[in-house]
Amino acid sequence: MKITVVGTGYVGTTTTVALAMSGHTVCGVDVDPVKVQALQNGHLPIFEEGLQDALRQELARGRLTFTCDLGQVILDSDVVLLAVGTPPDADGSADLTALEAVARQLGRLFQPNPNQTGPIVAVKSTVPVGTGARVRGWIQQELTLRGVHVPFEMASNPEFLREGRALHDALHPDRVVIGADTPRAAQLMESVYLPLGAPQLVTSIRDAEMIKYASNAFLATKISFMNELARLCERVGANIQQVAHGMGWDARINPHFLQAGIGYGGSCFPKDVQALQALASQSGLSLQILQAVESVNRSQPGWFLQKVKSVLGPLHGLQITVLGLTFKPGTDDIRESPAIPILKHLEEQGAHLTAYDPKGMAAMKQRFPSVLYASNLPEALRDADAVLLLTEWKEVVDHDWASSCKELRQPFVFDGRNVLNAELMHQWGYSYYGVARH
Ligand code: UDX
Repeated sequence: MKITVVGTGYVGTTTTVALAMSGHTVCGVDVDPVKVQALQNGHLPIFEEGLQDALRQELARGRLTFTCDLGQVILDSDVVLLAVGTPPDADGSADLTALEAVARQLGRLFQPNPNQTGPIVAVKSTVPVGTGARVRGWIQQELTLRGVHVPFEMASNPEFLREGRALHDALHPDRVVIGADTPRAAQLMESVYLPLGAPQLVTSIRDAEMIKYASNAFLATKISFMNELARLCERVGANIQQVAHGMGWDARINPHFLQAGIGYGGSCFPKDVQALQALASQSGLSLQILQAVESVNRSQPGWFLQKVKSVLGPLHGLQITVLGLTFKPGTDDIRESPAIPILKHLEEQGAHLTAYDPKGMAAMKQRFPSVLYASNLPEALRDADAVLLLTEWKEVVDHDWASSCKELRQPFVFDGRNVLNAELMHQWGYSYYGVARH
């Protein structure tokens, strides 16, 4: 099939590559000529394991191209996937400006064809319920203005890929959700994903739109639940990891997303939890559970810092090393990373800061220019009064902690992700504090 993907951000780029790998002819379209040129030359503007190699392979095979010229590719596309950004508005609701611009452009470009069929326009961006209908309206308005009839059909096709595992998730999804209000749209969208062999669920467009928000909000709820429980575990002397383990063996709960820590970050959970609440409030409802999910998440970095201060006392003048800056390992993305409020607070308290992260230092340097950025992990640890582990990078977890202890001025380690072996850390001479499990 011939597929156009509009928007070459995380989701858009991964989708172009995954669909080309599935045997389709794919064109990625973006308004940013620098980005398009880079992608066309095989350069990925983000760090994502395996994606750049796959991109180069598909470019070389000739099934994948990138352009700024939507008009050039749109006319012979069977499916147009919209994967443009939907950043939060001032009130947390999704800003659909980019989506409207693309929809209107489609309406100005679509041409009738002799078979009397039109393309399927599927929204991949995470959008509020009802957006599919609005996109249809925007396209139709432009067609009507031109006096042209093109029988295009709408679909919703939410994406569930995770950063750091984007290509894997796009090629091996747990499920493909297709929201379609006509049999032809459903059938064409099913054929797009047929090569993946993944289970497919066909719903209405509104249901598909809600499934995406509901899934992210539920995963965020699991995390905030465990983070709040960790606070109680600490008070009553229970170990949150053992508790999570025992809960996860119940198939109704499952072991995933029960990892307590310093709170969730990234480009999706914080934004989607807020957007779902904004949608609720526009519908005259308030989602109390999600309010709590957000509030626990906002206060989790502060809770962690409180623990650090209760051990170290005033932080003024202390040499503190922060390991991990990105919101999770395997990415260079620092959006909504819990490391941001933590660095901010440490700075305000007058601590001297050194940071190390395999991928996130360039971005963090722009926000915190006075932090010292170490060029490697051993250098970051040298002469520290305390170490705060904020992202569970493999390099950090696998580090030779046994021999590093003597490099620190004071051997305090606060593990915000519960990834180091507490028993061994104590044995090696550290004063080690995890999250509800020391
Ligand atoms: C998420 C969803 O998983 C994905 O389906 C959706 O398409 C986009 O949003 P992503 O943001 O890439 O993906 O990362 P994810 O692995 O879900 O982690 C999100 C945040 O939650 C990270 O900050 C992570 O550290 C945190 N997290 C995750 C926890 O604190 N505990 C857990 O048990 C799991």
